[in-house]
Formats: sequence, structure tokens, C-alpha cells
Amino acid sequence: MILKCAKIKLMKKNDYKIHADYLRCEYLINPIAIEKKKPRLSWIVEADSPAARAKYQSAYRVIVSSSETLLSQNKGDIWDSKKIKSRNSISIEYSGKKLRAFTKYFWKVMLWDEAGKTGCWSKSASFGLGKLKSEDWKAEWICSYSQPVIKLNRHGAMPPHYFRKKFAVSKPVKSAVLYVSALGIYEPYFNGTRVGEDYLSPGWTNYHEHVYYNGYDVTKKIKNGDNAIGCILADGWYAGRFGWNHQRANYGNVPKLTAQLVIEFEDGKRKIIPTDRTWKTFAGPLVEADLLMGEVYDARKEIPNWASPEFDDSTCASPWFNPQPKTRLEAMPAEQVKIIHKFKPVKITEPKPGVYVCNFNQNISGFCSVTVSENRGKKIVLRHAERLNPDGTIYTENMRAADPTDIYYCRGDKKETYQPRFTFHGFQYLEITGVSKKPRKEDITALFISSDTPVAGKFSCSNKMLSTLFSNIYYTQRMNFVDIPTDCPQRDERLGWTGDAQVYIKTASMIADIQNFMSKWLVELKDAQYKNGDFPAVAPDILNPGSGPAWAEAGIICPWVLYEVYGDKDILKYHYDSMVRFIDFLIKQSGKKLLPPKEYHCYSDWLNHNANTPNDIIYMAYFAYAADLMSRIANVLGKKADEKKYLKLFNNIKTAFNKKYVNKDYRIMGDTQTCYILAIVYNLLDEKGKKYAGEYLVEKIKERGTHLSTGFVGTKDIMLALETIGRNDIAYKLILNDTYPSWGFSIKHGATSIWERWNGWTPEKGFETPGMNSFAHYAYGAVYSWMVENIGGIKSGAPSFEKIVVKPEVGGNLNYANCEINSIRGKIISNWKFLKNKTFKLDIEIPANSSAKIFIPAKKAADVKESGKQASRAKNIKFIGIENGCAIFEIGSGKYQFSN
Ligand code: BGC
Repeated sequence: MILKCAKIKLMKKNDYKIHADYLRCEYLINPIAIEKKKPRLSWIVEADSPAARAKYQSAYRVIVSSSETLLSQNKGDIWDSKKIKSRNSISIEYSGKKLRAFTKYFWKVMLWDEAGKTGCWSKSASFGLGKLKSEDWKAEWICSYSQPVIKLNRHGAMPPHYFRKKFAVSKPVKSAVLYVSALGIYEPYFNGTRVGEDYLSPGWTNYHEHVYYNGYDVTKKIKNGDNAIGCILADGWYAGRFGWNHQRANYGNVPKLTAQLVIEFEDGKRKIIPTDRTWKTFAGPLVEADLLMGEVYDARKEIPNWASPEFDDSTCASPWFNPQPKTRLEAMPAEQVKIIHKFKPVKITEPKPGVYVCNFNQNISGFCSVTVSENRGKKIVLRHAERLNPDGTIYTENMRAADPTDIYYCRGDKKETYQPRFTFHGFQYLEITGVSKKPRKEDITALFISSDTPVAGKFSCSNKMLSTLFSNIYYTQRMNFVDIPTDCPQRDERLGWTGDAQVYIKTASMIADIQNFMSKWLVELKDAQYKNGDFPAVAPDILNPGSGPAWAEAGIICPWVLYEVYGDKDILKYHYDSMVRFIDFLIKQSGKKLLPPKEYHCYSDWLNHNANTPNDIIYMAYFAYAADLMSRIANVLGKKADEKKYLKLFNNIKTAFNKKYVNKDYRIMGDTQTCYILAIVYNLLDEKGKKYAGEYLVEKIKERGTHLSTGFVGTKDIMLALETIGRNDIAYKLILNDTYPSWGFSIKHGATSIWERWNGWTPEKGFETPGMNSFAHYAYGAVYSWMVENIGGIKSGAPSFEKIVVKPEVGGNLNYANCEINSIRGKIISNWKFLKNKTFKLDIEIPANSSAKIFIPAKKAADVKESGKQASRAKNIKFIGIENGCAIFEIGSGKYQFSN
């Protein structure tokens, strides 16, 4: 009887319901335009109380309705999945009625918990369909001129053009969505005001093949009577200057626009207003706009109301429409570029009379908004830079041929504000000239643009330098994730370098949710694959620089990392054929002996510190890694024969490597840190060899006074190699160094982002060669994955963090660290600290639908407490055993407070 009561009491105490939250369709929140006939739906599982533990979903029910009203009545007229027994909450394929193009649907989810108890409905979400077949797109491509004839400005570009269309509406409207795309970049307007918050849309693709469009809901703006659509169109990546070869028009020399407004009336009828010959076009105040070369805006030329219905466009020109491009239109599959942060100047100096320099204290990508009060026609010049010269003026030599200058000619108003939109710069400093008095801080704002990838990582600890390192990595990622992952945001480069992407992608996923962003870029990489199967060094591939080991393998590594982090097999399926073509290419060029060919291109261990690793070692390590990954990918996809074949290939490459490059005493040809790092991390040696390699790696680090000598390739894995050989003590020394070369060195010298090279600036030499000296390259930021996995102690134990390991590797005299990953299943938190009495305290949060293994330093289980009580006796906590000085427990979801 007593037992029975206790049970009832316990049940009540744990009587928490679960619900679905963060509903996404195709991994986007309420997307307006998707093109999937069977969109994939995902959510995270949340308990309604923070005290709930070991929660998971045992079943779900999805309903999709044609209206919000029906949804609120729980009527899934489009799809009612009914109760489906499944723990899966990621990528549930829609299988209801046939979806209609240009239509909005509403959906929600009901969950059942581990005990079969019904939860409550989630909040409602929506998704909109874009076109479903090419004929759905009625709009023509229009442009302002047939050929660029006038060289009006500094850089020989045509000015951006304005487009508009007036139309009338005479019956009640249910919804109105404007879909827009361009070969170039566009800014859309409706009834006089800007719509959307995106910049640089539709982004950079191989425009010859495909281009994205976006949807903008203008239902609230449309009115009975006259309405007007407006759009400004600039050169962008399509027609503007891009790359280091000073070339314009990489894809075409006339930017083009296509758009259609789809109106659905209350009576169910539809009307489409497409771009066609009836639109009007004209030039305006934007005299010049180029991604690399800045913007020129003459406010005297502004055309009031140009995008309003009232504007009289009868004398404006009609657009050109020939020839119609053959490119494929597709819905934008990722987050758009938006303003993600704003910074105010912390200081404004005047290093020379009339030259004002604002310091925003943070290197960013974007542009500035400046408010002035000057005479009509006054020319204000805004120049941008990452660093300052010793005399306090801005340092711009490292921009190479990019011209980070925006120019504004004043209208002459009492107060007027200018903000560019068709260019961006990498900068921490803004120089203003042409103003008649010192600018005020409140009149200047730096606007940070980046793809709006949801933030997924947080880190802080008792060492200030490491917290700054996290911040520098965060900002550098966001500076470079501008539509595609670029090497740098400031000089005349800004390319999607494959090597940089592969060394950094894992870290990137710990900073932000990059699933859509990277998947989108991988489409470009697949598209750019050469006929012989090799992957290029940059994607989109406008310059065709040589590729080679550690760059080309991005085509296999990046999809694999995305699968590991987000658990989505589709990405592997989609790329599998290209991966096979690539590995076949490697096999073919390596010949029977599976060795590097006589001639091949290689960037080596790029920007290493006087420690050249032989190209052949990098080649073999990445060849082996590619084979190893292929075998694992084949396993995930259930391709048994391929799995075996590639495993055999891996073993054969390993044998070839040992035979040719490894001495009897396990010294590897080249004898650099990177040689041993690669051999350890990519499993190229037998157990004994690994031990030796570990010793040699430590020796090589000590030879340099406990400093690294690695470039992009070695730095990716140096900390992982040290962790693997059990030398996190040295990893801590490296990460806490502030002497050259080290991460800390740049921080000691004022870095607010990650430098391209260890010696970007030194007290002895000042700035390194301006030909290759960016202060915002993310490659060396790859160290953050070690910080998360070791300082924070959060590791994934199964794809999509379905299983988690929390095992902080305490060291480096730290006395606390707080680390967080917002995974596809929800928040994972590991916060640890030493209390005054030396007690180790670990606060953990594990999302529902996941479980975790926790490691707490202790000699025996009884030494560990959870929320003040003996952990091994607590409900939902299972003691597993003692291993290497740690007590191991298994837990389900929820919040826990362990201490020893
Ligand atoms: C880029 C790098 C890139 C490299 C190839 C540079 O110009 O900035 O980040 O990986 O070339 O070695």
C-alpha cells in the first residue's frame, strides 16, 4: 500500500507534458517560398517544465491546413498524419494532398511522450510553396539596356537601374506575395516602401545554371485601387567586378530582373503581375554600385515616390527583354543576408585635419549608415579599413584592388542619412572626409551584414583571452558567411575556397546553424566539379585556380560533417555520385601504387610558420581520409559493397603511405608537426607508429618553445591530434600562448577577428605583405571545435546529437567554463566551475529526445552528487562505472547539477 502511494506521488511529480517547438519546414522557419512537393518538417521536443527529465517523443501527429482557422480547429484538411509511432523529429516527409504552387499552408504538431501520454499542440507554423514547375513562372527577364555603353563612373560600370510597375486591384485580396529574382542583385519595394530585410539577394550562384528567387509577403501593403511594385537592380556578382583579375562581368554584362506578384482574391481567383514589357525603367540617384568597389549615391538625383502608385511614369522607358536567359529559377534554400548586428563608434579621432576616423571596436563586414547636415552637392567620402597605420590614418593596402570607398553627394537637407546597400566592406574603422565639422557618434552606425544563420554557440571561461578568442571566431565566421563561405570579406577575393571551408566546417556548426547555408554552397561545389571528377579550389568557380589535396576533398568532407551534425542522410544521397566521381579521379591519378602523380597542384600547408610539409604527405593523408569517409558514407547509405571497397582502398593507401614515406623509426618524410598531426588524426599508422608519431609531434612543438608551426592544414587538426595522444596539457599550453605564433598573439595586439596569417602584424615588422594579409580569415578559428569538445566538454556521440558525451577536460588553470550548443534537437549546455572548497560542479542541460554520458572526476560513484543528493541513487541517472579517474553516468534529457 505504501509502495503504491509513493508511486502515485512520483508519477504526479513527474507529470510533465511535452510539446513540439521551433517548427521548421525544409529547415527554415515559416519559409515563404519552397519548391518541394514533399517538404520535410522538423521540430524540437520541449518539456513544459524545466524539472522534467528523460523525456522523449514516442509518437507524433502532424496536421497541415489550408487556413489558420481550420488549423485552430485541429482540422488538417491538407494532411493529417494521424498518430505515428516514432521518435523521429527531424526531416519528416510531408505526405498529404498534392500541394499547390504559390500557396501558403499552416501546420502544427502533437506529441506523445515516452509513457504514451498525450502532450499539447505546438504553436502554429506555416510554409509557402513557390513555383512547382517552370511554367508557373510567368514573368519575363527584363533589363534596362541591351549593352553597357557608357562608362559613367570610376570603375567603368553602368549605374544601377530602377524598375516599376503600376497596377490596380478592385476586389478584396486574401493574400499577395511578390517573388523576385535577378541576374545581379536587387532591392524590392511595394507601394513606396522597401519590402524584406535582405541584402545582396538573390546571392551568388553559377548563374549560367541556376539562380534563386525569394518571396515577400505584401498582403498587408496591397490596397484597393492603384498599387505599385518597385525594384532597384545592381551588377552584383553577375556583372560587377569580382575576383583578383580586375575583371567585370564574370557571368554577363547586363543585369536582369524577373519578378511576379501573385495575388489571391477572397473569391479564390488569382492574378499574376509579372515583369514584362509594360514595366518602366530609369536611372536614379545610385550612380555606381559594386560589391568590391563601393557605392556612389547622388541624393540630388533622387526621384520622390518612384515606387509609389502616384508617380507618373508615362515618360519613362520600357525595359529590354531580349535575349531571355536560360538559367533555372529555384527557390532560395537558405537564410538570406541581413543586418545581424549594429555597432556605434567607440572613438572618433582626427589624425589629419578634416580626416575623421571612427573605431567600432569590432572588425565586421557590411557598411555604415551616416547622418549629415551639409550643403547641397557636398561630397562626403567614406573609406573603410581593418587596421590603422601608426599615425592613426586607415590602412587599406591589404585590400589589394578592392576600393572600400562609398561616396555620397548631399541633398542639402537639414538632416539626411545615407546607407549603401549594393556593396560591402570588411572593416573596423571608417574614415569620413568632406564633412564640415567633426561627426557625432550618434550619427554613425556600422551595419554588420551576414547570412542570417541562427546562432548556435556560446562560450566563456575564466581566461579572458579565450573568451575573446571565441568572440573573434564568432565574428570572423559571420563576416565571411555572406551568402557563401568566403575566405575574406575585404580584399578583391571573397571566394568560396574549398580548403578553408573543409578545415572550418565543424567549428562553423558550433557557432551557428549552418545546415542550409552550407548545403546551398555545396550545390555550387557539385555544380563546379570538373569533368574529370576533380573538385575545384573555389565554388562558384569563376577563376579556376588550381585545386589539390586538402582543398578538393571538401566535396566529401563537408557533406559528411553536415550529416554528422544534423543527421540528414539526404545530403549524402545528393552528393554521393559526385563523391564517387571524385574518388575515382584520385584513384586514377594515383595509379596502381596509390601514390601521388608526378605533377599535381597543391597549396601545401598554406601559410605555415617556416615548416613546409611535403605535398606528398598532405596528398596521401587526404587521399586516405577521403577513402575512409567514402566507406563510412556508403555504410550510412546502406551500400555494403562500396563500404567494403573503400575500406580496402583506405587500407591500401595506408600501406602505400607507410612504405614510401615512413622510416623504420616512424619518422615521416618532412618531419614537421603537420606530418605527425595528419598521420595521427587520419589514422595512417599502426598502434606503435601512432605512439611514436605522438612523441615526435610533442618534440616538434617543444623544439619551437611550445609553439605551433602549422598552416591551414595542420592547424585544423593539431589540437585534435594532441587530444588523441592524451596530451591536452600541451594543447592547453598552445591555446594559452600569447607569443608568436599563436592565437593569443593576435589578441595581444588588438585583434577582434581571426587573422589570415600568424604574422599579419608584428611589432618588429609591422604589417605583413599586403598581397596576402587579411585580418578576417576563419581557417585558424578551427580551434574552436577543440574548445567545445574539451574545455566545454560537449561531444556528439551519434549523428544529430542523438547521443551526447559531456566530459570537460579541465586544464590550463581555468576555474570555470560555460559552453553551449544549440543542436538540431535543442540546447546542450555544459557549465563547470570549481567552488572555493575545490569542489567540481557541472551544470548540464540535455535536450529531449537525446541522452548523454557524463564524466565527473571522482574515485567512486558515491563521491558524486546530483542536486545535492547521491547521483547513483537518483532516478533517471544510471551509474556506468569508473574510468580514468572519472565516474560515468548515463542520463536522459533535462537539467542536472553534478558535483564531486
Ligand atoms: C585565400 C585562401 C585560400 C588560398 C589557397 C588565398 O588567396 O585567401 O584562404 O585557401 O588562397 O591557398
